[in-house]
Amino acid sequence: MLSQQDLKQQAADAALALIKPLLTPQAVIGVGTGSTADLFIDGLASYRSRFRGAVASSERSAKRLTGLGILVLDLNEVQTMPVYVDGADEINSQLHMIKGGGGALTREKIVSSVAQQFICIADESKLVDSLGHFPLPIEVLPMAREAVARVARQLGGNPVLREGFITDNGNQILDVHGLQITQASEMERQLNNVPGVVTNGLFAIRPADIALLATQQGIRRLG
Ligand code: A5P
Repeated sequence: MLSQQDLKQQAADAALALIKPLLTPQAVIGVGTGSTADLFIDGLASYRSRFRGAVASSERSAKRLTGLGILVLDLNEVQTMPVYVDGADEINSQLHMIKGGGGALTREKIVSSVAQQFICIADESKLVDSLGHFPLPIEVLPMAREAVARVARQLGGNPVLREGFITDNGNQILDVHGLQITQASEMERQLNNVPGVVTNGLFAIRPADIALLATQQGIRRLG
């Protein structure tokens, strides 16, 4: 029986195998955040001489990349990336995701938006029938916290401030419990329109293109 760690490793290895043909001297790779993304970063280091560098979705990932000798570029210096690889907290069969358990949702959404392909790597436990069991993270400007929380309550959720946590952008996170997310793109749009919301953790308007989900029986690919 493979452990969750083994499964994450399997997903990271599968992503590396898939992106290998995309590693050229000009290529810049978009890199996500989290324990699965960390394993991807570690594997990517073996190929560091084959591609130009990476754009990171968090300070944490940037530090790991730099520590392994991979050049980290500012997104403003990069026009396009062939691929962005990241984990997820939940993903459904339409490849809509909830992300931001690690608090990096805003930079994840920005970096992935510039990439041609989004590859989601996860163990199969992240695959769900409907999104919302995992609390939906919303990054908010601190002064808007209560105003955004009221909207989240109107939508049927129970927002909880992530205590003692400040994002890489200097903001706060509300984790919204109990949402029944049936129309993910609409909810993503609706929350984006609330003043003071920086980003919400729904990735449905721009879902993953491919999910590599590690199971006890091997990799299950969606997309
Ligand atoms: C980080 O903010 C998240 O979006 C991560 O992608 C997500 O939490 C998955 O993390 P793990 O790979 O650690 O489960």
